[in-house]
Amino acid sequence: MRYRALGKTGIKVSEIGLGTWQLGGNDWGDISEKEALSILHKSVEMGVNFIDTADVYGMGRSEKLIGKFLKETKETVYVATKLGRRQWIENNGWPAKYTIEMVKRDIEDSLRNLGIDSIFLQQWHCIPTEMLKSGEAFELLERFKKKGLIQHWGCSIESIEEGLICIEHPGCETLQVIFNIFRQKVAEELLPVAKQKNVGILARVPLASGLLTGKFKKGHKFSEKDHRNYNADGAAFNVGETFAGIPFDKGVELAEKIKEILNPSGKITMAQLALRWILDHDEISTVIPGATKISQAVDNAMASSLPGLSQDAHEKLRKLYKDEIEPCIRGKY
Ligand SMILES: NC(=O)c1ccc[n+]([C@@H]2O[C@H](COP(=O)([O-])OP(=O)(O)OC[C@H]3O[C@@H](n4cnc5c(N)ncnc54)[C@H](OP(=O)(O)O)[C@@H]3O)[C@@H](O)[C@H]2O)c1
Repeated sequence: MRYRALGKTGIKVSEIGLGTWQLGGNDWGDISEKEALSILHKSVEMGVNFIDTADVYGMGRSEKLIGKFLKETKETVYVATKLGRRQWIENNGWPAKYTIEMVKRDIEDSLRNLGIDSIFLQQWHCIPTEMLKSGEAFELLERFKKKGLIQHWGCSIESIEEGLICIEHPGCETLQVIFNIFRQKVAEELLPVAKQKNVGILARVPLASGLLTGKFKKGHKFSEKDHRNYNADGAAFNVGETFAGIPFDKGVELAEKIKEILNPSGKITMAQLALRWILDHDEISTVIPGATKISQAVDNAMASSLPGLSQDAHEKLRKLYKDEIEPCIRGKY
């Protein structure tokens, strides 16, 4: 595993981290506590030292499992969580604005779930653009940073516009963005600015919810408890968070074309090469694939030690994106 600087935080994070939306057990189908803890242990054994979660993943379950894991492990692990969506869930819509009381409750609950005194990285969880523009949400996090309840803060965002707004605030140390072979605009329009400002970048949905592993066939049916069933077209939340906003059958077709370019062979899987494509962008601090099985976490962690993709592969993927992928992307981008 190789490590990269996380913006100005002074911390070096593993190039491959672990996303733990799956451990919530609500949006990806069931996952047992035993399985979840094994995924966490195996990932850290493979050199992963950065874990992304959120208070709403299983309404605290993902954070609590990580808290349990932190007690069991001897390794140093940096945990990033998120806040801001509990209000949206509890009130069936966004609040007019966030208050100090709301933020205090959410931070204290995350601290309790994780069993820690201070959150390494707190992120606003895709709150509306207007709230980012006003800057008040940022000032709230600054207050909790001064109190020591959080050490660093950043924002998980949905569009380039939002990313550019966030990094204007000097306190914003990281951005979490959807970045993968299906969503290449970020490389042109956001990464250069983030690099200039030394803002750490977390690449989420790196496998387009599994599509970029090449394992799905057209017409595949996902379980009712899986967002790939009920949010395939954005019925529940931003469509971009499911299959990176590409209609599923079209995504399967495109993944086939990508597979021909990446040419996985021997022990090297398409998932690893898709992660490698992201890592070939040196502005990325860490990629945070999610996993429902230990074997996936192992496969993904190994992408860090692969050589970069050829110039030719990058150019072909760029052309495929421009000609065939970009026109199919739905949702905020
Ligand atoms: N708004 C936000 O801030 C936000 C939104 C989305 C995600 N995130 C974060 O980003 C993380 C990553 O995104 P994501 O989990 O949505 O999408 P992802 O990482 O693109 O896809 C994860 C899924 O891909 C499959 N997979 C992973 N590795 C595999 C491998 N090596 N071989 C075969 N299949 C593999 C698994 O699907 P199966 O279930 O089919 O096994 C897994 O559940 C999340 O866990 C979460 O921490 C944040």
